Amino acid sequence: MERSKKVPLSEDDCSAMLAAAREAVTYRADLKSSSVKPELRPADFASNFSTSLPDKGVSASSVIEDLIEVASKGLQGHASPRFFGYVCGGSMPVGAAADFLVTAWGQNAASSWESPSAAVIEQTVCQWCLELLGLPLDSGVGIVSGATVANTQGIIAARDTLLKRQGWDVFENGLFGAPDITVMIGEDAHSAPMAGIRYAGLGLGSAKRLATDEQGRILIEALRAELEACKNPPLVILQAGQINTGAFDPFAEAIPIIHDAGGWVHVDGAFGLWAHAVPSLRDRLAGVDSADSWAVDLHKWLNAPYDAGLCIVRDRNALVSAMSARGAYLPELGETWEPSDSTLELSRRARGVPSYAIIRHLGADGIREMITHHCVLATYLADRLSNEPGIEIMNDVVLNQVAIACETDEKTNRVLERVQQKGRVYPSHGVWKGRQIIRVSVINHATDQGDIDLLVDEILDANRRE
Ligand SMILES: Cc1ncc(COP(=O)(O)O)c(C=O)c1O
Repeated sequence: MERSKKVPLSEDDCSAMLAAAREAVTYRADLKSSSVKPELRPADFASNFSTSLPDKGVSASSVIEDLIEVASKGLQGHASPRFFGYVCGGSMPVGAAADFLVTAWGQNAASSWESPSAAVIEQTVCQWCLELLGLPLDSGVGIVSGATVANTQGIIAARDTLLKRQGWDVFENGLFGAPDITVMIGEDAHSAPMAGIRYAGLGLGSAKRLATDEQGRILIEALRAELEACKNPPLVILQAGQINTGAFDPFAEAIPIIHDAGGWVHVDGAFGLWAHAVPSLRDRLAGVDSADSWAVDLHKWLNAPYDAGLCIVRDRNALVSAMSARGAYLPELGETWEPSDSTLELSRRARGVPSYAIIRHLGADGIREMITHHCVLATYLADRLSNEPGIEIMNDVVLNQVAIACETDEKTNRVLERVQQKGRVYPSHGVWKGRQIIRVSVINHATDQGDIDLLVDEILDANRRE
C-alpha cells in the first residue's frame, strides 16, 4: 500500500465500511433460517487466520470481504431467536446499529469533557436502568463489560467500606495485615461472584458457603447460624436469578439481619434483576432494593450487543473511592458524573450507547412486554415437555430458565448432543443437584412460540430416538 493514497477516508475505506454494514443486514436477515451452530470448529479453518505475520498490507475492502467469507463459517448463532444456550441476550438490531456509531465515532468515553455526548447518553442510560430495576435513584453506577466485572467491582467497594469501618484504609495500606472480613455466598451461586471474591483478594477458600434449597435459594437458618458465629463485619453475596432455575434468594428476610450484623449485601442479578420491569414478577425481588450493591447485565435481558453490564452501588462515594484513578491531567473529583470514576477502566468505548438506543426504541412498556413474553414461553415449554414420559422438569419455572433431565445422565447428554448437532435450535448443558441437565434460557428479543415449538419437537424427537 502506498502511503500517498492514505487520506482520512479513502474510497477503499468507504467500501470496507459499507460492505461491513451490508453484511450486518444480510447476516441478521438470515438468522432465523440459518444453523445456530458453527459450520466449522477452530481447527478446521484456523489456517485461514493463523498465517505468518504479513509483511505487506492489502486493501481495507479485501480484508473485510475476507473476514466475512472466512469468519462466517465459524460463527455461533448467539443472536438467533433459536439460541437458548447459557443466558445470552440476542443483540437487538437497533443496539447493533448504535454500536456501529460508537465504533465509528471512536470516542474515548472516560470523561465528560473528552466526550460530552457519550457521557450524557451513558448517564441517561444509568438513570433509566435504575428506574427500570427499581433501585435507589441516587446510586453510583459504572458501565462495565458484564456481570463478572460488575460483581468484582461491587465486592471491591464492599471490601473497602467494611475495612474502613474497622479503621483500615485499603487505599493506603493494601490488604496485608488488614482486619478480617467474613464472606458468605450461597452453594448455588454463579462462578462470577466467586471469581470476584478471588480478584478482590478475599480468598474463596475462606468464604462460608451457605446451604440452599432445591431451587438454589439460600436457607435463612444457614445464614442466621453463620451470622451468629461471625466475629467480623460480613460481606454476604445474594443472587437474583439462579442460572439453572431462575430462583431468587429471600431478600426481604436476609438483608435486614445482615445489616443488623453490620454487614454489606451484594446481589448478583445478572439477568434476574430485570424481573422488576414487570409488575407481576416483582414479588420475586421483594426487599432487593435495600441491598448495598448490585451487578446486572445489559447484554442479557435488555438484549444489548456484547459487552455491557452495570455495577450499581447505593453509596456512590464507596464506588468512586474504590474505582476512581484520577491523574493530574484529569478533572477534579466533584459532583459531576465522570464515567471512569465508577469503573476499573480509564479509556474505554462508549458501551452504554447501544443500551440507550434499545431503551429508547422499546420504552419501558416494550421491555415489560418482552420479559413477560419470555417467561410465558418458558412456562409453555416446561408444560409441553413435562407431558413426555421420561422427561423431567427439574425446576419451578419462576422466570425464563428451564432445567430439563432425561431418565439418566447419559441419555440427557445424548439427547442434548443430538439436538445441538442438528443445529436448528441450541440449548446448552448444565449440572443441577448432581444431575446432568439440558438448560434452556428464553431471552432473545425475537423468540416466538414457533421457535419454542421447534425446540420442543427437537428434544422430543431426540428423546424418542435415543
Ligand atoms: C447469575 C449470573 N451471574 C453472573 C454471570 C456472568 O455474566 P457475564 O458473562 O456477563 O460476565 C452470569 C452469566 O450467565 C449469570 O447468569
